This record gives sequence, C-alpha cells and structure tokens, in this order.
Amino acid sequence: MFQAKKIEGVGKPEFYADLARQLAALLEGECDAVANAANCSALLFQMMPDLNWAGFYFLRAPGELVVGPFQGQPACVRIPVGRGVCGAAVAERRSMLVEDVHAFPGHIACDAASRSELVVPLRAGDRILGVLDLDSPLPARFDADDQAGVEALAAILVAATDFGPQFVRG
Ligand code: SME
Repeated sequence: MFQAKKIEGVGKPEFYADLARQLAALLEGECDAVANAANCSALLFQMMPDLNWAGFYFLRAPGELVVGPFQGQPACVRIPVGRGVCGAAVAERRSMLVEDVHAFPGHIACDAASRSELVVPLRAGDRILGVLDLDSPLPARFDADDQAGVEALAAILVAATDFGPQFVRG
C-alpha cells in the first residue's frame, strides 16, 4: 500500500522535489490514464496546503476540455479552449498563475471559495493533452516556485501514463 509521507519544515523547492519522488513511487508500474490522474489529484490534494480543488481537464475533442479525475467540489464539465483560466492555458500553451481569480477576465467559478489558481499544461512533446488545475481559497496562494514544482509533477504524470487515442493532442 502506498502511504504518503508528510513533508514539513522545508522550502518550496525541497517540498516539490520530495512530492515528485512520492508521485513517481505512487505511479510506478501503472500506466492507466484515469487511474494515474485520479491518484495524482488525490496526492496533491492531500499534500499541498490550502487547496480547495485539484484535478484535470483533458482535451477530449479538438477545442474542448472535459473534466477528468479531481478532488474538491463538483466542477463544470466542458470548457472550450480559450475560455477561463484552463482554456487560456491551452490556447496560450503555457502555465497560468492567477493571484486573484476575480481579476482574471472570463474566469470560470466552479467553487465560489476559490481566490487564486494555478493551471499547468500536460505536455506530450510539443502537443498538449489537457491541464492540471489547482485552486486555492487564499489569494496569491501560488508563486513561481509552485509553478515550477507543479510543472515537474505534470511531466512525471505524462511520462508514466499511456494517454490513448481517446485523448486528443492539441
Ligand atoms: N476556474 C477554472 C475552471 C475550472 S475550476 O476551477 C475547477 C477556469 O477558469 O478555467
């Protein structure tokens, strides 16, 4: 049985290095996309402080994200590429670090408690499979260290996982 180990008393780079090792151990020997995305969202939600939502949106048709495994409140199901923070991350092919979601034009509120958000693309080479989306009830919860750390976690997930033909590459 996998047991997540608390990470305490370290700075963010060390925190994410430890979390990356735990994620790699959690996914070892399994390549199923739903299973790995589900366990990844559960690990992040358990280990990262001050989150109210952690999960995935996948490109399931060209131009459309569909919610995948997540932890948190039920969320909106379909997001067109270019809409909201998640859709912007795919359209602009980059991570979106939003300190104040109320100041982001077109932000889609799935949980009224959310104040800040980090969205990281899932990259397969130069194509995008979807996004990893983290929400926090705290304003400015995420900084550049979080972005770098979560981008590394997303890369571990993609490397460990077989995203079959039902996942569109944008
Ligand atoms: N806030 C996101 C929508 C997804 S929820 O946060 C889970 C957005 O604006 O794209």
